[in-house]
Amino acid sequence: MGLFPLLLLSFLALSNAEVSRMMGVNYGQLGDNLPSPSESINLIKTLKAARVKIYDANPEILKALSGTPLQVSVMVPNEIISNISSNQSAADEWVRSKILPFYPKTRIRILLVGNEILSEYSNKQLWYDLVPAMRRVKRSLKNHNILNVKVGTPLAMDALQTSFPPSNATFRPDIAGTVMRPLLQFLNRTKSFYFADVYPYFVWAANPKTIKLEYALLKRTGITYADPGSGLTYTNLLDQQLDALVAAMTRVGFGSVRVAIAETGWPTAGDIDQIGANIYNAATYNRNLGRKMAEDPPLGTPARPGRAIPTFVFSLYNENKKPGPGTERNWGLFYPNGSRVYEVDLTGRRPDTAYGPLPVPLNDEPYKGKIWCVAKSGKRVNASDLGSALSYACGQGNGTCDAIQRGKECYKPNSLVSHASYAFSSYWLQFRSMGGNCYFGGLAVQTTKDPSYGSCQYPAVKLTD
Ligand SMILES: *[C@@H]1O[C@H](CO)[C@@H](O)[C@H](O)[C@H]1NC(C)=O
Ligand SMILES: *[C@@H]1O[C@H](CO)[C@@H](O)[C@H](O)[C@H]1NC(C)=O
Ligand SMILES: *[C@@H]1O[C@H](CO)[C@@H](O)[C@H](O)[C@H]1NC(C)=O
Ligand SMILES: *[C@@H]1O[C@H](CO)[C@@H](O)[C@H](O)[C@H]1NC(C)=O
Ligand SMILES: *[C@@H]1O[C@H](CO)[C@@H](O)[C@H](O)[C@H]1NC(C)=O
Ligand SMILES: *[C@@H]1O[C@H](CO)[C@@H](O)[C@H](O)[C@H]1NC(C)=O
Ligand SMILES: *[C@@H]1O[C@H](CO)[C@@H](O)[C@H](O)[C@H]1NC(C)=O
Repeated sequence: MGLFPLLLLSFLALSNAEVSRMMGVNYGQLGDNLPSPSESINLIKTLKAARVKIYDANPEILKALSGTPLQVSVMVPNEIISNISSNQSAADEWVRSKILPFYPKTRIRILLVGNEILSEYSNKQLWYDLVPAMRRVKRSLKNHNILNVKVGTPLAMDALQTSFPPSNATFRPDIAGTVMRPLLQFLNRTKSFYFADVYPYFVWAANPKTIKLEYALLKRTGITYADPGSGLTYTNLLDQQLDALVAAMTRVGFGSVRVAIAETGWPTAGDIDQIGANIYNAATYNRNLGRKMAEDPPLGTPARPGRAIPTFVFSLYNENKKPGPGTERNWGLFYPNGSRVYEVDLTGRRPDTAYGPLPVPLNDEPYKGKIWCVAKSGKRVNASDLGSALSYACGQGNGTCDAIQRGKECYKPNSLVSHASYAFSSYWLQFRSMGGNCYFGGLAVQTTKDPSYGSCQYPAVKLTD
């Protein structure tokens, strides 16, 4: 008993003084209601993060970070990659105007060229410009005598063609030789990292029947997976995903390039047709992540035991202007008003018992039943925006808006909100399986309440198994 106060004291002393060496946070800014850069930096400090990653080279943020101990990752925007790839002066000019004014007082340590370039199929030229642009940026840094900044590029897991079992993973054939090999050669030569956006959440959410939630949440519950190819045993989904990358890199001849996690996290809310997005799961995942990365010596992964893995949690804030399904706007550790969505100590030193109780999760099972996509109503809805969204929805698909034409069964009431609700439901039913969302710039929302009336039947998405 006498020991307890002493232990508690030393725990407090440690947790106040220390930051997590490996852990950082992504500071995304796709919100119209976010705190200022200096307020944001104060919030980052309360997380005890050692690193911060931004999605551009925002001068206000870089200035606000000046003199802080935070190590900073800056991004070269996708739009200028092609210019930089073929023009050393353009690369030099970017580094001169964006980096030099802040370096070294702002501890810029990573320069990421583009964001998930290889997931973007509409401009494949960018794929082939990526590595040349990275080489030029590295050369510019060297020309300016900046030698402690790594150059990389964050890639989504769709760089892999197969990822299961991990030992069997390969890169996509459309990029393996043409992009991945030169990329890995560059990363190996410059002693940089393969920066991966790794989300156990998405893998589990797509396979909730075959993957145990606990395994995705990094809980140490004794659930294991033995990879028949390598003989290695996995205790969590994140390691499995990371080792899939290692196997794919090994297959193209670069098995020793280090891996960093450019993004990972868990959403706290989402749409009705999304599963497992809640505060309990998000807090559990990110707390366990902090603990895993804090182990000293580092845990690494089964294929690479003992290797430290720099990790950036996604994300600092809930970002209300992110398009896509509801989870997209709910990855934050903080609400835009600066309140925490849940407590998390990224040093990994705080035991679960030192946190308060978490709300019981309600949506860990897939929703079954009908869902409609309707227009939000209320004073704050902008009628001209809603009209545009209605026209857009009606212009997509086949017969999307037939039923709301004059004289048809859903024409009356002839109101913008009711016509838009019909159009959104009809659009969503046709396009959901192709990746269409019930979002419409924030004007639409899912509902389980049938808006049909009389002979007017609103199209519904039916979720079974
Ligand atoms: C790329 O370079 C061309 C020619 O120098 C210039 O006109 C264009 O504005 C540049 N694009 C960007 C995005 O900087
Ligand atoms: C290369 O970039 C520089 C600086 O942005 C620009 O002035 C020049 O016109 C570019 N050259 C070409 C050939 O696009
Ligand atoms: C690994 O991949 C090969 C080729 O795609 C396949 O034939 C084999 O069955 C896979 N191995 C396992 C254990 O799934
Ligand atoms: C990777 O870098 C190491 C150390 O610089 C070097 O010995 C090795 O040959 C490189 N690997 C490849 C495949 O180029
Ligand atoms: C901050 O915003 C969240 C979410 O809207 C809300 O629940 C919380 O009460 C707010 N906190 C303060 C201090 O206003
Ligand atoms: C509605 O949104 C448009 C732009 O989308 C804007 O120009 C207009 O001022 C808004 N109207 C109101 C009443 O807020
Ligand atoms: C609309 O009909 C065309 C021709 O039958 C078909 O190719 C297309 O996939 C349909 N679109 C949707 C969204 O169902």
